Amino acid sequence: MSLEAERLINHVYQMDCLELMKQMPDETVSMILTDPPYGISYQNQFTNQRHLVLEGDSGIPYERFASESYRILRGNSHAYFFTRYDCYPYHYECLKQAGFSVKNCMVIEKGTIGGIGDLKGSFANNAEWIIFCQKGRRVFNRTTLLENKKKEGTQFHRGREPSKKYKTRFNACWFGEEYPKSTYNSMWQKKNQIYHPTIKNVECLSWLIQISSLPGELIFDGFMGTGSTALAALLTGRNYLGAEIDPGYFQIIGKRLQQQI
Ligand SMILES: C[S@@+](CC[C@H](N)C(=O)[O-])C[C@H]1O[C@@H](n2cnc3c(N)ncnc32)[C@H](O)[C@@H]1O
Repeated sequence: MSLEAERLINHVYQMDCLELMKQMPDETVSMILTDPPYGISYQNQFTNQRHLVLEGDSGIPYERFASESYRILRGNSHAYFFTRYDCYPYHYECLKQAGFSVKNCMVIEKGTIGGIGDLKGSFANNAEWIIFCQKGRRVFNRTTLLENKKKEGTQFHRGREPSKKYKTRFNACWFGEEYPKSTYNSMWQKKNQIYHPTIKNVECLSWLIQISSLPGELIFDGFMGTGSTALAALLTGRNYLGAEIDPGYFQIIGKRLQQQI
């Protein structure tokens, strides 16, 4: 049985993402921006505010998730899947097998450096990874997100177009002052009383949404967590659809969308 059209627009369901996807007709959404559990149990030992172990951290059926993602996405559209260096080979393979063309692995600086893992024998993880995929081909939007350092109209090579005021091509690595960070730090979480072990920065998601979709289009995230993707879609004039299985996080989504934090 498939969901009627009006139940697909601006809803987050408290349910298993794969159950929701099963009820969605083919080619329903214009962009996928999602942050699935990585299949590793995460627990930060070095904070007073301990996070719960996330649902799905023993692993989701990624092959099925990848092929359902391909099916529900419209032709000529973009999909972004957060991942981790050690899950990347498997996730990459599943997404390729599902039919996606994998265009980049983006690396985006975190807002905080993780204090987990082998603190004396490994590098601190200061970035998030995203597998950027296309179904068919879609070109990036012209945005006003980032100004070019070079003066507008400068011609560097004969025969080439003069430079534009705003960047039309972004780097795959987002580091430094000019780019938004990928996560909120613990100070933000404390100030807003919103706690989640892997909460993403809404501004970063908003940039990706503005680069890859148009106002009014439908953005899908099957693993909403605290609802960052839904909020980013709302703030950029897009529609959202998705799921979150955990009742506690599901409640936070309602609060965030209402208060826009
Ligand atoms: C990596 S977190 C997403 C965090 C989110 N990006 C944010 O900014 O808050 C993944 C979320 O997926 C949820 N989850 C795990 N398995 C799920 C499933 N089968 N269906 C829906 N949600 C699930 C977890 O409870 C967790 O909150």
